[in-house]
Amino acid sequence: MTTRINPSILAADFANLERELGRISTADLVHVDIMDNHFVPNLTFGLPMVQRLAQVSPIPLDVHLMIDDPDRWGPGYAEAGAHSVTFHAEAAGEPVALARRLRHIGARAGIALKPGTDATPYLDLLPEFDQVLVMTVEPGFGGQSFIPETMSKLARIADAVQDAGLDVWLQVDGGITADTIGIAAEAGANTFVAGSAVYNGDDPAQRIAELRDAAAAHPHSHR
Ligand code: DX5
Ligand code: ZN
Repeated sequence: MTTRINPSILAADFANLERELGRISTADLVHVDIMDNHFVPNLTFGLPMVQRLAQVSPIPLDVHLMIDDPDRWGPGYAEAGAHSVTFHAEAAGEPVALARRLRHIGARAGIALKPGTDATPYLDLLPEFDQVLVMTVEPGFGGQSFIPETMSKLARIADAVQDAGLDVWLQVDGGITADTIGIAAEAGANTFVAGSAVYNGDDPAQRIAELRDAAAAHPHSHR
């Protein structure tokens, strides 16, 4: 199984972002959390920031839009050079049309589900997406605790992806640490976002390696 570790710069030193990107160059993608103070009660970065990060980052950008009206704003992030753009199902007006636009621009298209959001309406739409993000905390803030009740949903989506013979990446985000990553890997995740677990401490590369090992030690077994 391919394991992807995507550190979230939400937990990085915002005064030194280029340096902080350099410290995670052994990771797969850098996770960039876009929050608008409406969809979630927190405010982070916008488009000009992503354009600049894309220019200096040693690894591709994995943009997570926690914003209202992603139909309007999402394509701009793909045009800015994000490798993947993931929008929330709860916020999108026409998720399939938006995903097609993102792919047309050249980005991978992702759909994110909050912990309380049912996956059922999206299982038939899986071919339209390159990635499904199962939120393992309520979106809005780093440093929260992993919600294990989200794992049954993740496992259902993993089964649906396998049944359909698709290569949709399954991402988890929130409370992922060396202790919880194995639970998510066993349930079928292959792409792991970690903010505080990577940046808290003085050796992010070491933390990335530990997360990779912990995920690999807990392979997914379908049904
Ligand atoms: C939360 C964000 C996460 C956050 C994760 O809304 O989507 O990406 O950075 O932070 P940790 O890993 O600290 O839970
Ligand atoms: Zn995120």
